[in-house]
Amino acid sequence: MTFDEARALFPVLERYAYFQAGSVGPLSRATLDAMAADEEASVVEGRGSAARFERILELRQEMREQLAQLVGVEPGQIALTASTTDGCNIVLAGLDLGPDDEIVTTTDEHFGLVGPVHASGARVVVVDPDPDRIVDAVTPRTRLLALSHVLWTTGQLLPVHDLKARTGLPILVDGAQSVGTIPVDARGLDFYTVSGQKWLCGPEGTGGLVVADPHAVRVARPSYLSQQRHEPDGAFEPREGAARFEPNLTPNSALVGLRVALAQAPPWHFERAAAMAERLRELLAEAGQDLVTPEERATLPPKLAVWRDKATEEFWNTCRTHTDTSLWPADAREAQNLLDFFLLEKAFYEMEYELMNRPGWLHVPLDGTLRILTRHGVVTA
Ligand SMILES: Cc1ncc(COP(=O)(O)O)c(C=O)c1O
Repeated sequence: MTFDEARALFPVLERYAYFQAGSVGPLSRATLDAMAADEEASVVEGRGSAARFERILELRQEMREQLAQLVGVEPGQIALTASTTDGCNIVLAGLDLGPDDEIVTTTDEHFGLVGPVHASGARVVVVDPDPDRIVDAVTPRTRLLALSHVLWTTGQLLPVHDLKARTGLPILVDGAQSVGTIPVDARGLDFYTVSGQKWLCGPEGTGGLVVADPHAVRVARPSYLSQQRHEPDGAFEPREGAARFEPNLTPNSALVGLRVALAQAPPWHFERAAAMAERLRELLAEAGQDLVTPEERATLPPKLAVWRDKATEEFWNTCRTHTDTSLWPADAREAQNLLDFFLLEKAFYEMEYELMNRPGWLHVPLDGTLRILTRHGVVTA
């Protein structure tokens, strides 16, 4: 599959540059068609037949196998979830931690991880995302390291296997920004989350949770799927493997869509993403920009240090003066701001909530975007 063929799979790319797969990636036409066909079948054939239910269970097993293969673990070590947040909550609830226990995490984690960490009741120790700082923060009370493989703030890659080896502690890895952007091998890690709707370009409500040893965690949030047998008082015998942690039946059409999305990923996508991120980094560095994105990183777009002070504020003011749905820059200064904005996912996220009610604000016409990027030397025409 060529690059142009891959691009052509996604209708949104005909009109827009899609810079933001970290919250939700684009859906391909084939993914949507497969989802629609599955919904249509359920409408026409009914939803409750034994045959359909059998197919649903078969697809769930197939998707466990596919996600397991994607991150290098056994199918029995993965549960289907709705999100990374789901996975973090399942692990934290099942570890039964209390105020005498400590969890070491970093300053740059997403609430999808630190929310469940905080809710666990353990004491939370927050340190800079520096491997030595993380190891130094460990005490005899530490029960868990909880951190991202790729930080959503800067794209920094944390050496999760090394941290596990150095501390010997259970580790919960937030894989929301890594699975789909870099090759992931979750072997040797205790817990690893997958978000299907981000870099895998799957539908919302899909994801996975690796639990290396399903017996090591209590099934603290059982669903009907968790048990193979239960008593009238609710006592139950958990299912085999990590599937016991599955919190609910994912809409079947979403799993059908995820299957198509995974099958469509071109074999060269990791290499190309890494090369493009590197190119952007080089060009920005050559242009004298101060980059916060470290050398050891994944494929999030490079970020400029300048966001920390003026750029965010400037761009925000720019946005406010645009009462229509377009963020189209009127002059060079605005263009520079817009460029920075694209490369500053941090600013992007901060403003996302503020601007949510302006339909279309996320999208800027592709030709105009390219013009700006070309003018600033980020891409060549
Ligand atoms: C690092 C990180 N963790 C967790 C999440 C939340 O992911 P999900 O929506 O799959 O729970 C995100 C979402 O952007 C993220 O960037």
